[in-house]
Amino acid sequence: MRSFFNSLFGGSATRRVVEIQPLGKTIETRPGQTILEAALAQGVAYPHNCTVGTCGSCKTRLMQGTVQASSDFGYTLSKHELEAGYILACQAAPRDALTVVEIAAPAADLRPAEVFDARIVSTEALTHDILKVVVRTDRPVMFVAGQYASFTAPGLPRSRNYSFADAPQRAGRTSLCFFIRKVSGGAFTGALFDGALAGKPLKLEAAHGAFHLRPGNAPMVCIAGGSGLAPLLSVLEDMRMRRVRRPCVLLFGARTQADLYALDSIRGIANAWGESFSFVPVLSEEPASSDWTGARGFVTDAIAQAGSAVQWPAAQAYLCGPPPMIDSGIDRLLGLGVPLDSIFYDKFTDGVPAVESLKAA
Ligand code: FES
Repeated sequence: MRSFFNSLFGGSATRRVVEIQPLGKTIETRPGQTILEAALAQGVAYPHNCTVGTCGSCKTRLMQGTVQASSDFGYTLSKHELEAGYILACQAAPRDALTVVEIAAPAADLRPAEVFDARIVSTEALTHDILKVVVRTDRPVMFVAGQYASFTAPGLPRSRNYSFADAPQRAGRTSLCFFIRKVSGGAFTGALFDGALAGKPLKLEAAHGAFHLRPGNAPMVCIAGGSGLAPLLSVLEDMRMRRVRRPCVLLFGARTQADLYALDSIRGIANAWGESFSFVPVLSEEPASSDWTGARGFVTDAIAQAGSAVQWPAAQAYLCGPPPMIDSGIDRLLGLGVPLDSIFYDKFTDGVPAVESLKAA
């Protein structure tokens, strides 16, 4: 009888307690309620941003208990993070009477996203399938280097996410640059590459994402694939402008020489870096007969040699690109001795429907 009344009136049979470390806070969740929902409702300042399982801001280690996942954590977290017990608090509802979680390293002070009116003011082909797109907004957009914006266009079914390619400005930016890769069959990029979005009113929601520079003096190894160069350029240009001086190796994976772009921007950053900076482009499909004398193969195969002077256990790694590149890169970096909690990444995907709000490559 007691358990009957408990389940009717929310007694101990349905009471789920969550201890949140390192905050030392305790909250209660209702059945089916996520840790993030409950924490915010009970006044706990839990890191979050997208609330839909795509940005990684709420990454949390599950120390005790089990949770029901409302989406696959693996779309956002790496397999190593999953193996280490990380979950996404915005997608995890506790199942047990007691759950203990530990918030991952606190993110930068990220602002809540806002919606802006926006128009495309110019486009420029960087490669055969990547456009540089400049967008103007109705008011300044504040973001942290490495974050992304979500675009909605009239008549198109869903929003698309693209990383800022410029460094932020203290008072925000109304002119914003993105590198957008054409997705086969993609409605948004199809319209964009056809010129159908030029001058059209768009909605831009920003800023999203937890990919950003972490503090410290650690040497940096940055690995970009395709349009994944955008957030890394934003981070590096922001560091250059703020005169943050740290040794840096930037690897950029592309198929052929024709797929390399933004080389002038990289050269400008390197020339003004103030510390050691090496840039290593790596081509995976460059014809053997070409004049290319640089690295060949997959970009992740080149990490060890490109970073031969790096003290790996003390390094921080930043990766942006397609999921196989990220997973392979994390494997390589862990093998070299980079700690898992010093590896930060932003997975880009072509956006199959099941993960439509993940970032498009
Ligand atoms: S807030 Fe949980 S993944 Fe974005």
